Amino acid sequence: MMQIVLATHNPHKREELRQILLAELGNSIEVLTLDDINPPIGDIEETGTTLEENALIKARAVHEITKLPTVADDTGLEVFSLGGAPGVYSARYSGEGATYASNVQKLLSELGGNPDRRAVFSTVIAYIDESNKEHTFRGEVKGKIGWEPRGTNGFGYDPIFIPEGESKTFAEMTDEEKNAASHRGRALRAFVEYLRNV
Ligand code: IMP
Repeated sequence: MMQIVLATHNPHKREELRQILLAELGNSIEVLTLDDINPPIGDIEETGTTLEENALIKARAVHEITKLPTVADDTGLEVFSLGGAPGVYSARYSGEGATYASNVQKLLSELGGNPDRRAVFSTVIAYIDESNKEHTFRGEVKGKIGWEPRGTNGFGYDPIFIPEGESKTFAEMTDEEKNAASHRGRALRAFVEYLRNV
């Protein structure tokens, strides 16, 4: 069975990747995360200025240690009326010690009563294959920022992101509904489509 390392400690991301690989490719791939690797790999600093750079930085760091095919993702939420913020800085938006909740609150307060709530969620998947070749895949979903957090599923900005054509936030959707519409789902399906053809 093929093993792929997902360069993250985030259990939500592992589940999303596992579910999509399982649905598309069946049981032929085992997904490991950093929690399964010895010696332990800590958090990798994201020093790039684009999602592509950051995803590749994470994938390279883990691939150098594991020598296994490695997948890393980097995600950003760009809000139109905030000039594209928080963008690549989405994880640290509310500063040192940021939590999902503090980032959501910061975004809602930056937007205030602004009626222009347009936003886009983007994920870049970086993949380093068994012959050290680098690939990137991008997935995006347009939507808008809600007026208050709603729902308890998912993570991050999910309680305030409402994808285009929907009334529910990502946090009000089941995993299947979110995966079908989400930035990460789209990027992952592009990646899986590539895997299927090699
Ligand atoms: P990263 O890709 O883990 O660096 O994610 C950047 C930021 O976006 C973090 O604050 C995440 O919590 C958030 N984020 C990443 N993916 C999602 C998602 O699918 N929904 C909501 N927030 C997300």
